[in-house]
Amino acid sequence: MAVTTQQLLRFKREGRPIVALTAWDYLLAQVLDQAGVDVLIVGDSLAMVALGYSTTLPITLDEMIHHAKAVRRAVQKALIVVDMPFMSYQESPKQALRSAGRIMKTTGAEAVKLEGGYPEMSETVARLVQSGIAVMGHVGLTPQSVHQLGGFRQQGKSPEAGERILAEAIALEQAGAFAVVLEHIPPELALRVTQKLTIPTIGIGAGPHCDGQVLVTADLLGLSTWKPPFAKTYADLRNTIAAAVQTYAQEVREHQFPAK
Ligand code: KIV
Repeated sequence: MAVTTQQLLRFKREGRPIVALTAWDYLLAQVLDQAGVDVLIVGDSLAMVALGYSTTLPITLDEMIHHAKAVRRAVQKALIVVDMPFMSYQESPKQALRSAGRIMKTTGAEAVKLEGGYPEMSETVARLVQSGIAVMGHVGLTPQSVHQLGGFRQQGKSPEAGERILAEAIALEQAGAFAVVLEHIPPELALRVTQKLTIPTIGIGAGPHCDGQVLVTADLLGLSTWKPPFAKTYADLRNTIAAAVQTYAQEVREHQFPAK
């Protein structure tokens, strides 16, 4: 049975951790879905891990839709959430509705995600939710603001910054978001946010107390050349793939493949 936003709320109430990962293409999304991941986020981090940009800023709405369609074709069970890229929603709630509407109509995803909280984004989230669009929020380290933040660094370290992140998460819940990503914030702050909200928190670099966890799949698989300090690598696919390709190359050059 396909995962729904209502089910994620139930998971929080029952204390069952939510498993989320990022996805950007058909093959990998199929593997992740069949492995039982609850939520697949077509995150704009694909700009970095799949397209080679140094930040998430350059990716366009059309490119996000292109990748989301590939993920949709692969996935039968996981809930698919598509990131709204930089400058596709910041201008006005009306612009956000147009962009989110395109994502929902053309990709078949279940939800969209956008970065930022109170007071900038809650009106936008409310507008999307009123139109029947499921929205996931994202606070803490918001990579689309990387230059304003001075790098991909931990957020919410001072009491004031922590209070602001808590207020943003509350505002997103009040605006109707069904879940909130908490990125790279101190674990104690993530615990406070998680206890305060009735909707699930999905942590990335936010410690063990969130209702769920997400990682950028390229980091988990050991494919990335750079990964954030909080990411855990569960496989060494970069070296595994390189070794396989080197063996193939050697066999071709030595006339061992194809076999005679
Ligand atoms: O872009 C991304 O990969 C994300 C994840 C942190 C969820 O936003």
